[in-house]
Amino acid sequence: MGERITLDYSNMMSAVLGDRGISDEILEQYQQSFRAAHRKVEAARQQGAIGFFKLPAAREIVREIRGFAEGIGQAFDTVVVLGIGGSALGTLALQQALLKPHWNELSDEQRDYFPRLYVLDNVDPTTIGPLLDRLDMRRTLFNVVSKSGTTAETMAQFLIVRERLRRAFGDDPDAYRRHLLFTTDPDKGVLRELAQAESIPTLPIPPDVGGRFSVLSSVGLLPAAIVGIDIEALLNGAAAMDERCRSDDVANNPAGVFACLQHAADSQLHAPIHVMLSYSDRLYLMADWFRQLWAESLGKQNRGPTPVKALGATDQHSQVQLYIEGPFDKTITILALTDGSSDVPIPKEYPDVDALSYLGGHTLGELLNAERRATAQALAQRGRMNMTIEVPTLDAHSMGELFMMLQIATVYAGELYEVNPFDQPGVELGKELTYGYFGRPGYEPPETGRRDSRWVVR
Ligand code: PA5
Repeated sequence: MGERITLDYSNMMSAVLGDRGISDEILEQYQQSFRAAHRKVEAARQQGAIGFFKLPAAREIVREIRGFAEGIGQAFDTVVVLGIGGSALGTLALQQALLKPHWNELSDEQRDYFPRLYVLDNVDPTTIGPLLDRLDMRRTLFNVVSKSGTTAETMAQFLIVRERLRRAFGDDPDAYRRHLLFTTDPDKGVLRELAQAESIPTLPIPPDVGGRFSVLSSVGLLPAAIVGIDIEALLNGAAAMDERCRSDDVANNPAGVFACLQHAADSQLHAPIHVMLSYSDRLYLMADWFRQLWAESLGKQNRGPTPVKALGATDQHSQVQLYIEGPFDKTITILALTDGSSDVPIPKEYPDVDALSYLGGHTLGELLNAERRATAQALAQRGRMNMTIEVPTLDAHSMGELFMMLQIATVYAGELYEVNPFDQPGVELGKELTYGYFGRPGYEPPETGRRDSRWVVR
């Protein structure tokens, strides 16, 4: 375990940005509203009403997960997670942050004999068809992850996989079951019914833990454990962050200050776009995970911020001009990884060419960090709010800290925006209309709305 993550919000404040920043008076006002939000969240926690708070202490299920992962799970060459949204994005973030880059292309030895890991997160046939054609079904475990146990995308993935497994094991009609593991609600949903009817092994998702808050449940822990990620360290990091967030003093509560500043930027300074700009390839999918968490939790009742993900230094040549000098409607949260453990030196190849010689003798990590600091400073010089979350060591512990901090911040933000962060009525509406289009019993085919050939360009 390294040093803990820090949050530097100097560049959000009017002391740096003048009237384009958040003043001490505004922050003082938030101290009051934050105390009220914190009280409500803590009361809900005491009543056991917010499921994800309980996950770091749920060590019995961790033992079960490790038992499965180290026994059956790691006996496979490949694990494929079938799931979407909150059932997939946390695992993708963990995979990118904590496994060696290009994991699935490495040899068995380079992967320390842990399985390959694919996470589908979509139903695009041009991705799924070729992947399934390439896999040896006899050496693959499919982890079907769905809290509701009914989501159309995941169920379609499952039906395709089940049929292929049964084909691959034509001589043994029961063998397909040994290649399936369902992670789903302990009581409800069609997956649960199928598991019981067909004796397919399952792991539970606690009923009070919703999809986008489920990365620290069996949803994220099982695939992580199978590929050798230290899931205890992940939970320890989450617990340590949770402890830091028990303070009702906004300045000492990392999730609190994050939520209050983002809310203030939106509601007081009219900056509703929240960019998470990762200066690490390995944290880019963490920004993707956060994008879903922030959007689906807060975007309702005609309010809510618009989260965006971006990558440094890549997007300095794509988006950053807009962030620095475009409309004043954004905050930028920079994710900084200062861990220099796997750096690449830049050789002194052209000592006499001024345009190149200044690079020689440094490292790529130094260049990336200099670019990150330069971007933060350029944003501030143009009066653009930005803050930096610094991750000194990228490991399972710091990933646990990050997940927990952003989940708690989302719950506080729900209080500040006065919305329920745990529901997603818009997503449910889309799901129901899809069922209608596909003729699922009990769902009406949707009205297609007003269509007029004048408004269609052919
Ligand atoms: O956060 C959420 O609730 C959603 O993004 C869900 O995770 C997503 O819709 C998939 O749902 P389920 O896990 O029920 O298949």
